This record gives sequence, C-alpha cells and structure tokens, in this order.
Amino acid sequence: MKKILAAFLAGAVMCTSAVALAGCGGSGEKKSTESTASSSTESKAEESKASKGELHMATNAFFEPYEYYDNDKIVGIDAEIAQAICDKLGYTLVIDDMDFDSIITAVSSGKADFGMAGMTVTEERKQSIDFTDTYTNAVQVIIVKDGSDKVKNADDLEKAAIGVQMGTTGDIYVSDFKDATIERYNKGADAVLALSQGKVDAVVIDNEPAKAFVAQNEGLKILDEPFENEEYAICVAKGSDLTEKINGALKELKAEGKVDEIIKKYIKA
Ligand code: ARG
Repeated sequence: MKKILAAFLAGAVMCTSAVALAGCGGSGEKKSTESTASSSTESKAEESKASKGELHMATNAFFEPYEYYDNDKIVGIDAEIAQAICDKLGYTLVIDDMDFDSIITAVSSGKADFGMAGMTVTEERKQSIDFTDTYTNAVQVIIVKDGSDKVKNADDLEKAAIGVQMGTTGDIYVSDFKDATIERYNKGADAVLALSQGKVDAVVIDNEPAKAFVAQNEGLKILDEPFENEEYAICVAKGSDLTEKINGALKELKAEGKVDEIIKKYIKA
C-alpha cells in the first residue's frame, strides 16, 4: 500500500505543474526535463526554486522551433535562450512542460519562476503577469489545405471552421468572429491534424510553427497574407525582481549576438 501511495505521489509531483494535461502526458512521457543532469528529482512541485539555485521555466513544448522534444529533451530557441539567461544569472534551468493555457497561472502562482513559450505580449496578459523585454517578433498566419478555396484570405476566416491552440493569441483573434466556428485544441499539432482530416477549414497559428507543421504534413500551405504581428517575451510573476535580472541578461545576450545566433540556428533564412 505504501509503495502504491509513493508511486502515486511521485506521479502527482511530476504532474503538478501540468494538472490540466490529459493524463499527464498520456503515454507516460517525461513532462519535466532538466537541462543539466544534476540536482535531485524530488520535490519538483515546490514553489519557486530560485532560492535553491534553480529556475523553473513553464512552457508548452509542442511549438517547433521555439520549444519541442528532441527525444526526451526539450530543445529550441526558447530553451536555448533560457539556458543562456540562467547561465548568466547562475541558476540551473529546469523546464516544466504543460498546456499553454496553464503557463500564466503557473507563473503567477509561483509554481514556475518564469514562462517562455513563444508567448506574445498582450495587454490582457499584463493584467496577471509581467513581461520582460521582447526577444523576437512573430506573425499569426493562416494554414489551409492545398487546393481548397474555402479560405483564401483573412476575410474568408470570418465564416469558416477554424482550428486553434487553446488560449493562444490565434484563439483570441478569431474568437471575435461571430459567424465562424472555433475548434480549440490542446496542441497546435492537433489543430493541424484536424485540418488535414477536413474537420476545420483553416488553422491560425504563429508563422514559424506553421512552417514546421506544413513541412511535416503533406497537402497543406500557408496563405501569403499574414494575419497579425506580434512580439514574444518572457513572463514572470507580477512585481518579481526576476524581470530586471532577466532583462539584464537578455540585454547582454542581444549585445553579444547570442540571441540572433540561437534564432538563426533554428530558423534558416
Ligand atoms: N504566440 C502565441 C501566444 O502567445 C502562441 C504561443 C503558443 N506557444 C506554445 N509553446 N504552444 O498566444
């Protein structure tokens, strides 16, 4: 009985920052990967670890090239910039993977120290968290099926069936369309799958992940007309002194050309 309870608790700890995930990842995959092999695995769910020399980054690692799994490890632009920031500040980076729409709560409640997930700065989000300086730009694009003429431009979206990742800016923008049907998915990949299967007419998502999805799935294309310009930043708890620390590190990394170097490594011109 004790053993079962211990196993359950261990599972619960792994899941804590990812409570909203269906079955904590379903396949039992690792939901928390450490960028270094050090430090203990226990008490992952404690509040801010900053005092222990760790910084927990909340993300949703199904967003190539910003964060995605390479086997068991979460890699990508955000993972590498976060690592470089932690190196500068003298912290060990721990990445906690969760649903995108759980990130802000994880950060504002102190379960994670910061959130980095190709996250767009919006006024509404600023009500619950603080953003650091921005580190890159993005644009929302529309993915459609090759040869389908149902959605040819942004206007056509207003009366289409649209797939989005839940809680993202793509979701927020199209939610204004009264005559559209919005299907919300936990992962961008699920929205893209629905498009391939003809369940939705279009997917609205950030341009770089869109390119990755179109490269990985035959018969899809990105419309030329970009939809909405955005800027990505890191989010931290309101009033946290991490904002200043991270901004300091970011500034240096930008000046050293490190941010550009990391972006160019993942996004080929
Ligand atoms: N940029 C969009 C937003 O902030 C989408 C981000 C999705 N990120 C992710 N890691 N799934 O809402």
